[in-house]
Amino acid sequence: MRTWPEAAEIREVGPRDGLQNEAPVPVEARVRLIDALSATGLHRIEATSFVSPQAIPAMAGAEEVMARIARPPGVRFGGLVPNVRGAERAIAAGVDEVEVVVSASETHNRRNVRRSVTESIAGAAELATLAHDAGKPVEAIVSTAFGCPYEGDVPPERVAALVVQLRAGGADRVSFGDTTGMATPRRVDALLDALDATGLDPTSVALHFHNTRGTGLANVLAALERGVTRFDASVGGLGGCPYAPGATGNVVTEDLVHMLEDMGVHTGVDLEPLIRCAHLAQEIVGRELPGQVMRSGPRTKTVEASTA
Ligand code: COA
Ligand code: ZN
Repeated sequence: MRTWPEAAEIREVGPRDGLQNEAPVPVEARVRLIDALSATGLHRIEATSFVSPQAIPAMAGAEEVMARIARPPGVRFGGLVPNVRGAERAIAAGVDEVEVVVSASETHNRRNVRRSVTESIAGAAELATLAHDAGKPVEAIVSTAFGCPYEGDVPPERVAALVVQLRAGGADRVSFGDTTGMATPRRVDALLDALDATGLDPTSVALHFHNTRGTGLANVLAALERGVTRFDASVGGLGGCPYAPGATGNVVTEDLVHMLEDMGVHTGVDLEPLIRCAHLAQEIVGRELPGQVMRSGPRTKTVEASTA
């Protein structure tokens, strides 16, 4: 019989990764969604990003979002930043953690943040010092960790080497983004092997999957079996650019909670209010989202009832 970790931590990224890819919605709606999410038992929420509003119009008003959201005890709110300027804004706005993004592939990094990977690594170290001086932990997010839409395969050894540099520069935690849904369980295994070789403990790894090719939950399962316990997800499956056919959001939070809880992997998240959040997310973006559990109700309960 297979065994899985007793608990997993889900970080909700819908208000950032999800909404950044949707047509911009008002700050008030972003705050309403975050407040609803922070009442579900989620412990970590990526609330917004502090990037150029020219680059990502949907994330304009990040300071206002942070100022207006409720801050229930036990819930940590993160902000993604591309550079030192972003970290200064995030710290001033009162985030609990600063997330700096660096791509594993040169082309994606240049397109995303308009600088080389080497420049981003130096920037990450500089902003880690700023964040630490302000008492905030720093997470380094490695994008295109399972493949790059421009360069194709990204060797896991390159990702591992980047992580060594980011940790030397002060990153307290690392996460790996499957930016365009190229990961499969085989690629998950290969990356975890390469990270293993650098001495990185799987329990300190976080994974961020997009469900572009339908492999999201399979990837989570593969990682769970290797001892990874931290996953990003977006409510309803929010995300995916409405102007880019075929692009999709992250692993769906309520589907992930449903799966993990049924497997006995404790998440601490209450499925019913989470499903209400998914309906709210649909209402806010004005389109049907891909979440399955949202449509068919909290199946975990049914499973519990039928085995009782
Ligand atoms: N927040 C807000 N504004 C910022 C900023 C930040 N973190 N960093 C730079 N800017 C502003 C500058 O002040 C400058 O403004 P000005 O024209 O009014 O003087 C302008 O943006 C250009 O600055 P520059 O340093 O030349 O940036 P750039 O044009 O090379 O763009 C980034 C670089 C990183 C700011 C931009 O590409 C970006 O925000 N990318 C984020 C992409 C993203 O969020 N992707 C999804 C998440 S992975
Ligand atoms: Zn993402």
